[in-house]
Amino acid sequence: MAKVIDGKAISSAMLDKVAADVSALKAAGVEPCLAVILVGDDPASQVYVRNKHRACERVGIRSVSHLLPADTTQQALLDLIDTLNDDDTVHGILCQLPLPAHLDAEQVLLRIRPDKDVDAFHPANVGRITIGNAELLPCTPAGVMEMLRYEGISPAGKHCVVIGRSNIVGKPMALLLLAANGTVTVCHSRTPDLASFTRQADILVCAVGKRGLVTADMVKPGAVVIDVSINRDENGKLCGDADYEAVSKVASAITPVPGGVGPMTIAMLMRNTVTAANAQSR
Ligand code: GUN
Repeated sequence: MAKVIDGKAISSAMLDKVAADVSALKAAGVEPCLAVILVGDDPASQVYVRNKHRACERVGIRSVSHLLPADTTQQALLDLIDTLNDDDTVHGILCQLPLPAHLDAEQVLLRIRPDKDVDAFHPANVGRITIGNAELLPCTPAGVMEMLRYEGISPAGKHCVVIGRSNIVGKPMALLLLAANGTVTVCHSRTPDLASFTRQADILVCAVGKRGLVTADMVKPGAVVIDVSINRDENGKLCGDADYEAVSKVASAITPVPGGVGPMTIAMLMRNTVTAANAQSR
């Protein structure tokens, strides 16, 4: 049976470390602050934003919410970002996605000052991640890398297969694994014979958002399976892309859903906020 990688416990250890860094910053006269923008009333986004504020509270980061109505104009949102960009007491700015359809998310993300972009979604930060000199790392892929490090699993010399090519997870995940000397294959929804690739994976990262996508016969015995997705099964229970019970019998280690990658993402957001506050107070 696979070892269950406990994202909650690893995240908790990371948050303790971030809290110590926050205390040190406060002692030096800097109070790290994260501004979170939520447009509209998407229930899932409301839960995510609440969890982000809770994490801020836990580590001592000041958090400010900007809850805007669903009919907010592009200009009003850009104006708010300009105000936050110019506010020296705000170190991190996060605009929760998805935005309502009438808003241009790309333009919004471009407006956030790269050194306050704690999601690391701005093209300037994506470029730095590509080159390998980034300070702010994309939270979910960085969380996966921390989990692997914590478990003593090095991607070096391993064949890492990432299923999914989103800007938020798949693409930056591939870049971080590559930077850690993994040999990386990126598959996606249009990859023919997906199993022929996944069966070669020493480390398999699933980030498609399709329950039941990865079955036990698609996993090499002894592989490490990292399941980033959060789906619901036919009973409304949370699940990932991998058939957890069956894959657990083949893999050497696996992340559960919930309690796997999810808690790591928030811990990395807290770390990025401290990194941003440090950089801005230098
Ligand atoms: N929506 C879902 N995941 C994320 C994330 O990591 N950052 C932002 N800003 N919005 C999201």
